[in-house]
Amino acid sequence: MTASIVVSDREETAQRLLASSARKSYDPMVEVDWEAPIPDDKFGLTPEWSTLYGTALWDEMTEEQKIELTKHEAASVSSVGLWFEILLMQMLLRDVYGRDKHSRHVQFALTEVADECRHSVMFARAGERLNMPSYGPHPAIHKLGRIWGGFFRGANAYASVMAAEEILDMMQRDFMKDERVQPVTRTVSKIHVLEEARHIRFAREEVGRRIEGASWARLQFERLNTAVVVYFVMKSMIRKDVYANAGLDPERAAAEAKNNQHYKDTVRTSGSKLMQFLDGVGLVGGPSKRLYKRVHLL
Ligand SMILES: [Fe+2]
Ligand SMILES: [Fe+2]
Repeated sequence: MTASIVVSDREETAQRLLASSARKSYDPMVEVDWEAPIPDDKFGLTPEWSTLYGTALWDEMTEEQKIELTKHEAASVSSVGLWFEILLMQMLLRDVYGRDKHSRHVQFALTEVADECRHSVMFARAGERLNMPSYGPHPAIHKLGRIWGGFFRGANAYASVMAAEEILDMMQRDFMKDERVQPVTRTVSKIHVLEEARHIRFAREEVGRRIEGASWARLQFERLNTAVVVYFVMKSMIRKDVYANAGLDPERAAAEAKNNQHYKDTVRTSGSKLMQFLDGVGLVGGPSKRLYKRVHLL
């Protein structure tokens, strides 16, 4: 199995990433202007990323309704990011527990935990600032996460982490550049994209290292596990209650969102980099393909 990325020495990678963190890291409590007014005429996120963009319902909605919906959607996305970061921090801390603390690898993993800590506070504060509910995943998935968090390790842990980070990244790269979007969403996205680039590099190489030489049975296990996590992250991204909370008919909105071809195409196009990587390391195949199809990544 050849990974589609160059996997360098673990210590070398960690050393490079540590140097990069020292050069450029952000404290969102200082960098984001939390007191800045929330303009009435800006979207919560890039409208083309709305689950209703391109539907008949979207065309019927007023500008205010579109803005309100995208604010709820932005809060849902960042609250799911926050939930996943908490799981990720647990995984990283468990992973370094028994390793040499003098190694650059452990020191970068701890630096990543510190980044995620700041990100989680930042996401929480952004949702609060937009005056949105604290969404998080569906309660059943939230409960599953608690159980699964205890087992989460190995190649699929890093693969799922990377997948979740890439999924968030593909949206936030659009949000940060978009002048139609709320300044708070843009700044938060920019900070996240910049710091996550290191995490994605770290996780990608770990996946490459840990999957190399895996037996057939282990590969099947890692495939399925990764796909299940990606499936739940994608399914959780937008909570169904955003529609009612934005004042829309929840049944109609959910039905139109479910069949929204524009959204499916956007996810597939933006997710192609992630899927290419997963495929390159052998993590796409068998029943896992069906799960990726169901969340429109394939
Ligand atoms: Fe993060
Ligand atoms: Fe991260």
